[in-house]
Amino acid sequence: MRGLLNKTAIVTGGAQGLGKAIVQRLSEEGCRVWLVDLQEGGHETAYEISQATGYPVMFQQLDISKEEEISHFITNLTATGEQLDILVNNAAAFIFKGVDATPKEWEAILRVNVIGTSTMTRYCTPLLKKSEHASIINLSSVSGFVGQSSFATYNATKFAIRGLTKCWAIDLSPFGIRVNTVCPGYIWTEAFENSCAQLGISVEDEDRRVSQMHILGRQGKPEEVASAVAFLASDDASFITGEDLMVDGGYLAK
Ligand SMILES: NC(=O)c1ccc[n+]([C@@H]2O[C@H](COP(=O)([O-])OP(=O)(O)OC[C@H]3O[C@@H](n4cnc5c(N)ncnc54)[C@H](O)[C@@H]3O)[C@@H](O)[C@H]2O)c1
Repeated sequence: MRGLLNKTAIVTGGAQGLGKAIVQRLSEEGCRVWLVDLQEGGHETAYEISQATGYPVMFQQLDISKEEEISHFITNLTATGEQLDILVNNAAAFIFKGVDATPKEWEAILRVNVIGTSTMTRYCTPLLKKSEHASIINLSSVSGFVGQSSFATYNATKFAIRGLTKCWAIDLSPFGIRVNTVCPGYIWTEAFENSCAQLGISVEDEDRRVSQMHILGRQGKPEEVASAVAFLASDDASFITGEDLMVDGGYLAK
C-alpha cells in the first residue's frame, strides 16, 4: 500500500489477536512499529515479527488505563526525537454485562475502552501533528451498531468509539490527521477459543453458530482486519476520514 514505508506506528493491544496481526501487517509494509500491551509476552511477539519482516518492532509494556504510564512513554518518545504517523487504538477490555452491570464494572470497562483510548490519543496527538500524513484508526465492532443480549457494557464502549472517531476527525482535520474506525464482525482469535473453553462449549459448534450470522458464512481472520487497518493508514485512503469501515463478512447487511 502506498505511503507506509518508513512510517512509525503505535499499536495498542498488539501482543495477541487482532493487534498482533495489525503489528505484523504494518511491519510487512515497512513501518517501524511500537507494540504496546499490558502483557510482558508482547516483547516476544515484537521480536518474532521483527525477525520475520526485517523492520524494527519495539515493545512497550503499558496499561492504557494509567495516564502516568502513557505520559512516561510518550515523553520518552518525544525526547528521543521519534516521529509518529499512525496510532491504532486496538486494546480493549471485555466485560459483558446487561442491565445488571454494577458501577464498578462500568468503571472498569470505560476506563480502558473509552478513557484509555482517549488518553492515548491525547498524548499522541502532538507527535501526530508533526507528521505530514498522520492517521488514527480506532477499533470498534459490529457491536458498535446493534444491540446484543447481555452485552450492554461492551457495546456501549464500541458505540462510543465510533462517536470519538467522528468528533476527532473534525477536531484534527486542520492538522491533516485522518481518523477512522474499523468495525470487525466475529474474528477467530485465541480469545474466541479461550472463551469457548471457559464456557465449556465446543469450538466447532460455536464456530458454526457464529458463522451463520455473517452472510459470507464464516468468521473473519485477524489478517483480514489488519489489511483494512493498513489501507486506512496508507495514502490510498487519503480522502477518507470520520468513516466506519465494516470488516464483518456482511453481518450488518442482513
Ligand atoms: N475478536 C473479535 O471477534 C473482535 C470483533 C470485533 C471487534 N474486536 C475489537 O478488536 C480489538 C482487539 O480484539 P481481540 O479479539 O484481538 O482481543 P484480545 O483480548 O485477543 O487482545 C486484546 C489485547 O489488548 C491488551 N490489553 C487489554 N487491556 C489493555 C490495557 N489496559 N492496556 C494495554 N493493553 C491492553 C491485551 O493484553 C491483549 O493483548 C478490540 O478493540 C475489540 O473490541 C474484536
